Amino acid sequence: MRLCERPSVCALMVLCAAAVSVHGGNVLVWYTEGSHWINLKPVLETLVDKGHGVTVLLPNTSLYMSASEPSRYRYEPFNTSITMDGFDEFLQAFLHFAIYESTHMSYLQIFARLVEQINMDIELQLRYLDGVLKSPSVMAKLREGRYDVLLADPIYVGSEMVAEMLDIPLVFTLRFSVAHTMERLCGQLPAPPSFVPGTLIKLTDRMSFGERLSNFLFYASQDMLAAWFWKDIDGYYTEYRGKPTSMCEMIGRVDIWLIRTYWDFDFPRPFLPNFKFVGGIHCRPAKPLPQEIEEFVQSSGEDGIVVFTLGSVIKNISADRANVIASALAQVPQKVLWRYGGKKPETLGSNTRIYNWIPQNDLLGHPKAKAFITHGGTNGIYEAIYHGVPMLGIPMFADQPDNMVHIEAKGAARVLHYNTMQSQDLLDALRTVIHEPSYKESVMRLSSIHHDRPLSPRDEAVFWIEFTMRNKGARHLRVQAHNLTWYQYHSLDVILLLLSVGLLLTLLLVKSCGFCVGRCCGRTRNMKNSKSKAE
Ligand SMILES: *[C@@H]1O[C@H](CO)[C@@H](O)[C@H](O)[C@H]1NC(C)=O
Ligand SMILES: *[C@@H]1O[C@H](CO)[C@@H](O)[C@H](O)[C@H]1NC(C)=O
Ligand SMILES: *[C@@H]1O[C@H](CO)[C@@H](O)[C@H](O)[C@H]1NC(C)=O
Ligand SMILES: *[C@@H]1O[C@H](CO)[C@@H](O)[C@H](O)[C@H]1NC(C)=O
Repeated sequence: MRLCERPSVCALMVLCAAAVSVHGGNVLVWYTEGSHWINLKPVLETLVDKGHGVTVLLPNTSLYMSASEPSRYRYEPFNTSITMDGFDEFLQAFLHFAIYESTHMSYLQIFARLVEQINMDIELQLRYLDGVLKSPSVMAKLREGRYDVLLADPIYVGSEMVAEMLDIPLVFTLRFSVAHTMERLCGQLPAPPSFVPGTLIKLTDRMSFGERLSNFLFYASQDMLAAWFWKDIDGYYTEYRGKPTSMCEMIGRVDIWLIRTYWDFDFPRPFLPNFKFVGGIHCRPAKPLPQEIEEFVQSSGEDGIVVFTLGSVIKNISADRANVIASALAQVPQKVLWRYGGKKPETLGSNTRIYNWIPQNDLLGHPKAKAFITHGGTNGIYEAIYHGVPMLGIPMFADQPDNMVHIEAKGAARVLHYNTMQSQDLLDALRTVIHEPSYKESVMRLSSIHHDRPLSPRDEAVFWIEFTMRNKGARHLRVQAHNLTWYQYHSLDVILLLLSVGLLLTLLLVKSCGFCVGRCCGRTRNMKNSKSKAE
């Protein structure tokens, strides 16, 4: 090649080629569950496509991950003392509380119960962590693996400690922490409570005075709670390392945070150079439907279809709710595909079909999709945004109500209350979402924002993981805020100094003025005195 006659250009080309792809990178992936795992898989697939080795830590107690599932990545198994039954019991108890019991409870009871649940959850997670950290054979294998990066969802505790022990960079992939506590307190992400609503508070970025007050107090109370919850983890880490260790400080060393939202879903807010917003990682174009489903969809004619799911966690609902829902669905001209694992409701109409599983993404991407009835999980919301389908939210628990507030504020959804809605409410809302053009227009706007970016979210996530491997971390993106005390961060020491100087100057001024005035007045008095004496 002629260009290569000049050595510097040649070297540059080799460098560029090296930068475009790092072959043979070695990625270790922390275990995850549920929608988090569904979200992560496409990223792992892409990493494999690009020639990296991917190894996933797999606990022997897992609901969603299985070594027998055909995949192109390797599993590194570890044992936990938790039984499948214990795990399932924990999950079911939480769901029952979140969906049914909590509606009859006072705030204080809900709070007490949540605290108990979270404590149980942390204890459960630390037992998972035991299976990795305290197993010499697993740790030895991880060391031998010579990994270039650890990719982890921080809601599963412990990855920061393992990254530290293996001395490798760490990339977090996170949907949210309550009131952004982890991002703010450990990642130093700025989030002014005046316009950044805390996750789960169900507010938008336009807050009245009362709402700003709630948001402020929400941040403050969650910070205290988080500090209290994290104490157990700090204790565990401290015991393991034999020296005082803070989980939050360790998380402060995370190289890149891949946040699974984007400005189509989230409200604009300040962020740091090592925070990347990659919402919609798992979205992809629709594939053809299975024949039986395609025929049913085609039979809908001009009216189109409604896709309905309450998520992968909720398998069945009470007979009363199922009947309320089914009788509303029976009254629309659309064909309805309902993912539901419970008993067939008596009021089910002939236009509605129940499936144990539906190809949700392919249905939403079908030209006949008119509306999506969803529990408001971010994965489903993102698929609807990707394909531009207006939503009707029936949020159940966790971040779902808060997520739907976002989409409702952006004009692409109506929201109903699961426990109190009646058939007529559901019917009205569904008709509105389908026939009122503003919903379709809003979701199409979100969709074009979603698609109009330099890299797809998945490619962006993969890029930053490769970036971290190539550069052996991303410390250069880490703000110095991590090394400041709270009063330095808020410049309180500077303000204190300036105030003191100001006060001192004012005092001096007042004093010297007083002195002057005193002198002047004294002189006139003296003059008066001498005048009167003279008289
Ligand atoms: C997990 O436990 C099984 C026995 O229950 C044992 O055969 C296996 O080696 C253990 N795996 C690890 C990684 O310790
Ligand atoms: C996982 O492995 C541990 C240790 O071998 C064992 O006690 C436990 O029952 C296993 N759990 C499951 C779900 O197989
Ligand atoms: C769901 O089904 C299980 C068993 O099939 C049952 O025990 C449970 O009560 C059902 N839940 C609801 C809410 O109906
Ligand atoms: C910031 O703190 C970390 C550990 O807390 C330390 O390793 C690093 O050297 C500090 N950086 C600077 C610039 O002081």
